[in-house]
Amino acid sequence: MGNKIVLAYSGGLDTTVAIRWLKESYGYDVIALTIDVGNEKDFTVLEERARTAGAEKLVVRDAKQLFIEHFVWPALQADAVYEDGYPLATALARPLMAYLMCEVAREESATAVAHGCTGKGNDQVRFDVSISALAPHLKIVAPVREWKWSRDDEIEFARANDIPIPVTQANPYSTDENLWGRSIEAGVLEDPWVEPPDDVWTWTSDPRGAPDEPAYRTITFERGRPLAIDDERLDGVTLVRRLNELAGAHGVGRVDQVENRLVGIKSREVYEAPAAVTLLAAHRALEQLTLTREQVRFKQRVSQEYADLIYNGRWFTTHHRDLAAYVQSTQRHVSGDVRVRLHRGTVTIAGKRAPDSLYSLEQATYGREDQFDQDAALGFIKIWGLPVRLQAERQLLREAEGPLAIASPE
Ligand code: ARG
Repeated sequence: MGNKIVLAYSGGLDTTVAIRWLKESYGYDVIALTIDVGNEKDFTVLEERARTAGAEKLVVRDAKQLFIEHFVWPALQADAVYEDGYPLATALARPLMAYLMCEVAREESATAVAHGCTGKGNDQVRFDVSISALAPHLKIVAPVREWKWSRDDEIEFARANDIPIPVTQANPYSTDENLWGRSIEAGVLEDPWVEPPDDVWTWTSDPRGAPDEPAYRTITFERGRPLAIDDERLDGVTLVRRLNELAGAHGVGRVDQVENRLVGIKSREVYEAPAAVTLLAAHRALEQLTLTREQVRFKQRVSQEYADLIYNGRWFTTHHRDLAAYVQSTQRHVSGDVRVRLHRGTVTIAGKRAPDSLYSLEQATYGREDQFDQDAALGFIKIWGLPVRLQAERQLLREAEGPLAIASPE
């Protein structure tokens, strides 16, 4: 009846070393918890590794469907993208992981939880804030943040303690992946002047070598959630996987940005998110047809707020619940088909249609079927332009600089 801790275990060097360290420094019995959010791991290898490092056991949770249904689709419906580039894959998985860590801690009667985040990133904040919201009684230990070792220190500790070092640690980057995308940082990427080398990309083909022929697919949405590709109904996990493969093969989904971390650091981050980039483009296209001007405008602001709260680790908040209620309400008529064209690194929208579309051909057309009352435009313009005419007459035209002087080059 030792003191138990649940460690979020990826199988990498950090968390493998952390198992032994938690035992030795704190005397914990370590329950390693691997959460499968689509990161394709060999769990028997992980179990072996965790046990050799000193874990009591490895618990594996398949969270793929939960991830898609409760995290990815709401973020897609919100059009949540951080700083115009990052579709938030890593950021979205953290609150789910925190939730499952707390759940397993309860099942195992553990008094503490641990994660392998450093003290410089966003992920520590997302974990700690989410855990403290869901299970405030749990102690949180972050070995990597505490020990502040270099990579070589870690390897040395592993060697001295006969801890198996995962071979994948030859990877010169720090990476994280789940169904919604792959995040890559560190190594040569730390210099924003350096173009990402080819070995950064594993999900996407170089657009130069991508197929000459574009691929067309029709994605069907219902209330803002993707339902089918080319009329084949698919569960969310399969749908996202298929699009990752297909769009990835056409070089779609590469993102390279310098972003503002919550902890105040600017960092250079590279992402691969073929399905996310494709679905976000398709979803926005469908909203063009089905949302009113006011909804489009206001939702853009909500999207940004939504992306920030995901990025900043505030998933489990009432503010999120309120915004989510707005977003869900906007999605009532966001149903229909979007035809995407994937070609050499780009996704473009070839066509879109929706049963509840607000696009009216009779109003828009320049053909004979035109139903728009052009005479009525006169009265509309007269009233719309009324304050503009008044300002011009009383102010603008009386000023010495003249009407072009908006930004005078002095
Ligand atoms: N910058 C991204 C975020 O804060 C990704 C971080 C992922 N971590 C990594 N080891 N690449 O969400």
